[in-house]
Amino acid sequence: MKKLSVLISGGGSNLQAIIDSTKNGILKGVAEVVVVISNNPFAYGLERAKKENIKAVALDYKNIAKTDYDNQLYELIKKCNVDLICLAGYLKKIPCNIIKEYKSKILNIHPALLPKFGGKGMYGHYVHEAVVKAKEKKSGPTVHFVDEHYDTGSIILQKEVPVYEIDTPDDVAKRVLVQEHIIYPQAIKKVLEKYDNNM
Ligand code: GAR
Repeated sequence: MKKLSVLISGGGSNLQAIIDSTKNGILKGVAEVVVVISNNPFAYGLERAKKENIKAVALDYKNIAKTDYDNQLYELIKKCNVDLICLAGYLKKIPCNIIKEYKSKILNIHPALLPKFGGKGMYGHYVHEAVVKAKEKKSGPTVHFVDEHYDTGSIILQKEVPVYEIDTPDDVAKRVLVQEHIIYPQAIKKVLEKYDNNM
């Protein structure tokens, strides 16, 4: 059974989708979430983890020095002996030492069809606002590997959804989120299978 850590900053609906898939879906018997880490102590995702009896840790980004935060994050991930690090609405940059040590083992979900609508400042509703403003005909989530830049790592899975002329950013966000919850567990499975074949 592979061990997943999930890093969050907010509501954690993708975290829930991953947990659900380890219990009753495509990750059942394949992987388990062993730790949920949040930079935001008020993130609802922490409650979700506690309800599932999963270790939930808040590292309060605002009240400690960045180097201390980075060190604590590194130590925690090492201690939990995880196979993959899954960013699910986690809005902080991953320190370089973790990226190096966990090369091709850190995944992120982004709510647009990368390489479009990615980069610094492009997250959450900003992404969907930009998509509507650009009059895009399609959008959809991307799961990709994390490298040292924002949203540039190689793509693991994408899923297109239509964008209609009458859509608000919220309409697009809802349509994309439904697909996020489907493709994130699929992408995790894909990476774990590849990883097993290379061992
Ligand atoms: C998701 O839509 C995710 O794609 C996005 O934040 C949301 C988190 O929702 N991530 C980014 O924009 C990262 N650039 P959740 O907390 O309900 O999973």
